Amino acid sequence: MAFLLTILFIIVFILLLFIVILFFFFIFDLFLELPYVGTKRKRIETIMSFAALKKGETAVDLGSGDGRLLISAAQKGAFAVGYEINPLLVAISSFHAKIKGLSDHISVNKSSFWKADLKIADVVFVYAMRKTMPKLEKLVWEKCSKGTRVVVNTNPFPGKKPQKSKDGIYLYKV
Ligand SMILES: C[S@@+](CC[C@H](N)C(=O)[O-])C[C@H]1O[C@@H](n2cnc3c(N)ncnc32)[C@H](O)[C@@H]1O
Repeated sequence: MAFLLTILFIIVFILLLFIVILFFFFIFDLFLELPYVGTKRKRIETIMSFAALKKGETAVDLGSGDGRLLISAAQKGAFAVGYEINPLLVAISSFHAKIKGLSDHISVNKSSFWKADLKIADVVFVYAMRKTMPKLEKLVWEKCSKGTRVVVNTNPFPGKKPQKSKDGIYLYKV
């Protein structure tokens, strides 16, 4: 009987923990100007082909979510830097990097991308809502070095002409 009660207690504890984590995740995102939506696999292929990363280059993802773009960039031989404000997503992306054996090639900053160091970036990834794009355009053009490639997912920069686009993915050069 005591054994069964212990098992039951452990199951209830795990379920409660899971609910608390999910609650924290969704509540946190509700207050963000830019909530979490992960990029689909097919789009990641287009993003990576537009980014044309070379070994040793640095890619920065502004709002790196669960780290899927960071992992793809690191698999291309780049050093991938993420800025992510949701601590749960930072933990998930660090875990992803670890299980893929890419921890040495990925760094995730638990801080706002508005403070990102973009001077180091050869490539920048942007995936944001339409209303945030004017501010992000300004940030990227002010902080990136000339020649930086910027790959934008879904909502284009309002004031710049992309070099090319395909299926809602846009490539710009600063
Ligand atoms: C649309 S998702 C993109 C996720 C990822 N880049 C991808 O393509 O799968 C935007 C992410 O930005 C994060 N975010 C929102 N505001 C942020 C901020 N000021 N600084 C850093 N990250 C932020 C959200 O938590 C979310 O994970």
